[in-house]
Amino acid sequence: MRVLFYDSKQYDIDSFKKENESFKFELNFLEFKLTKDSVELAKGYDAVCVFVNDIVTEEIINRLYEVGVKLIALRCAGYNNINFKAAFQKIHIVRVPSYSPYAVAEHAAALMMTLNRKTHKAYNRTKESNFNIGGLIGFDFYKKTIGIIGTGKIGQIFINIAKGFGMRILAFDKFPIKELDVEYTDLDTIYKESDIISLHCPLLKETEHLINENSISKMKNGVMIINTSRGGLINAKDLINGLKTRKIGSAGLDVYEEEADYFFEDFSNDMIKDDTLARLLSFPNVLVTSHQAFLTNEALKNIANTTLQNIQDFSQDKILVNEICYQCPHEGNCPKVLNKKCF
Ligand code: NAI
Repeated sequence: MRVLFYDSKQYDIDSFKKENESFKFELNFLEFKLTKDSVELAKGYDAVCVFVNDIVTEEIINRLYEVGVKLIALRCAGYNNINFKAAFQKIHIVRVPSYSPYAVAEHAAALMMTLNRKTHKAYNRTKESNFNIGGLIGFDFYKKTIGIIGTGKIGQIFINIAKGFGMRILAFDKFPIKELDVEYTDLDTIYKESDIISLHCPLLKETEHLINENSISKMKNGVMIINTSRGGLINAKDLINGLKTRKIGSAGLDVYEEEADYFFEDFSNDMIKDDTLARLLSFPNVLVTSHQAFLTNEALKNIANTTLQNIQDFSQDKILVNEICYQCPHEGNCPKVLNKKCF
């Protein structure tokens, strides 16, 4: 198999080269994203490997198909960037449904703790020998209410972390898990009662802009919002308005709706043209990280291994356990149904 990687960073190259020692595919890495221009470079490859901000449109899928690509291997869990309906019966799509849910859940906890105890500010102060602690007051997590939206792999680990803090946990999921030791409730109750709300559901049509003017108006004053899932779950302009009116006390964002142009790149000598992102960055009570929740050694190794295993299964015409397909009854969000090739 010849595999072309788009949007690859040094940590991708290192982890994939190491894992590929046992698979021995021909891997080639491009720094730039898959676009309607760069798609031409896929000619002669059996598979392309893409990441969260490669937007794989119908036009790109058709061109990939024309140049002979048979497989798109996502080296991530989310798949909202792929038009998998357009790929049906043309190109198979596989993903890495779980590589380290701990990495993401722990990052959500890091955002929550940093925002609350303002350690990002304390770090800067003490670095400049400023030992004043004024303005750094936080609150105890103990006995506070946390609302968790999406109780899949990451949500469940985050629930355990929150339990460790002694928090009261409310959860919402479209497909609640009976055996899970958590209090499921409706979204309105989550909005009304939570001191912190953390998003762990996928970005789908029905979850797009879940956090908007209307849902924010139902929340507790001073609520903290944590999003390590997908940027499109939050209407960023409504979030900004909520922050300006102090309805929202703080926000920890590892993802942003329009992140594709900025995240993973260095703009420190440039300017941010996206006024919404620039405004978000200007708030002292907003902490933005650049889609790094997945970035642990364990996750990188698992991503590389599962992606290469997916490619090997495809090349050997085996069952594709990690295939996504638009015909799936759960809109591609089904971990169990896809125990065979989708077409
Ligand atoms: P998962 O598939 O195990 O869990 C998602 C949960 O959301 C499921 O329980 C599902 O029933 C639920 N859900 C589906 N539709 C819903 C709806 N309309 N309302 C509420 N819940 C709904 O996925 P996992 O592994 O826990 O990942 C969650 C999300 O985290 C992914 O969709 C992905 O976007 C994001 N992610 C972010 C990363 C980062 O680096 N920031 C890395 C990996 C994943």
